[in-house]
Amino acid sequence: MADFYTRIADYDVEIDYPKYWRARRYEHLSEALALGHLLDSHLADWTVDLGGGFGRWYPLLRERSDRVMLVDYSLSLLQEARRQWGDDLPLVRANLYWLPFARQSFRSALVSRVLHHLAAYDRAFAEMSRVVAASLVVDVPNKRHALARWRARLSSAGPDIQSHAPINRSVTGDTHLNFHPAAVMASFSRQGWRVSGARSACSFRALGRVPLLPSGWLAGLEGPLQRWGAGAMLGPSILTAFQRPLEPTACATSEPEELLRCPACRGRFFSEPSRLVCRRCGAHFPILADRFWDLRWPRP
Ligand SMILES: C[S@@+](CC[C@H](N)C(=O)[O-])C[C@H]1O[C@@H](n2cnc3c(N)ncnc32)[C@H](O)[C@@H]1O
Ligand SMILES: [Zn+2]
Repeated sequence: MADFYTRIADYDVEIDYPKYWRARRYEHLSEALALGHLLDSHLADWTVDLGGGFGRWYPLLRERSDRVMLVDYSLSLLQEARRQWGDDLPLVRANLYWLPFARQSFRSALVSRVLHHLAAYDRAFAEMSRVVAASLVVDVPNKRHALARWRARLSSAGPDIQSHAPINRSVTGDTHLNFHPAAVMASFSRQGWRVSGARSACSFRALGRVPLLPSGWLAGLEGPLQRWGAGAMLGPSILTAFQRPLEPTACATSEPEELLRCPACRGRFFSEPSRLVCRRCGAHFPILADRFWDLRWPRP
């Protein structure tokens, strides 16, 4: 199995992620503004936050849909989500390359600040497209943002920002990819999605990290830029909304357990007191707490 399918960014040891966001108020406000425009006003039954961390966007998604599920690889972030948001939010510890859900389980999904970790992004896009039925909002880390274009002009040895291939910005040898937004759009359109809207976010990222600069003021200034900047692909994050027609059989169930499938073979589970067991291949997975399943695959 290729290494990039199994190497996953480790948010359990590498970073205090809630603290990271406390220092980035402007970026959070900027993304919230963009998501407010892009997310359907009523997403209806199931919405899944894929790579959702500690549920930074849970309040926003909960306002718009009857049920939200949070999926992430990191145990500590999911535990933080349980502490912050309580027992109503079902939690699934899983790998985005092997999503443990039935086809078209969710009507809608959000993928925020995750793409830069996905070395095998085509595989992850295919998995997202399998489990999400009709509406998808994806935050695309943009390799062609305004500053990168200036840098590329000034230095002929700079990275190639025209090609559709992503650039790895990591200096430590991990994966930190920036994409050509058109390449991500093309990739999703091969999975049957069409772009229904886009917003450019975090244009003043560097300024926003200066202490004492009022973050609300910066975000207000950026508002008018978001739509125009998306067309020109100027900001460091291009939040892109995709849609496709909803099949009548999609998202039929309301119980989270019924959406779960074995990530190894997609078989159905039967439940034992502390684990789920696959009826087809016999693989078993821990139940970590009420509505909290560990369905990572391959098993570490
Ligand atoms: C930068 S954080 C973004 C969290 C959240 N979406 C937000 O916007 O606050 C990236 C998240 O992606 C998760 N992640 C990265 N690779 C993953 C994978 N292959 N499967 C599942 N989660 C993954 C990490 O655990 C982390 O929580
Ligand atoms: Zn199985």
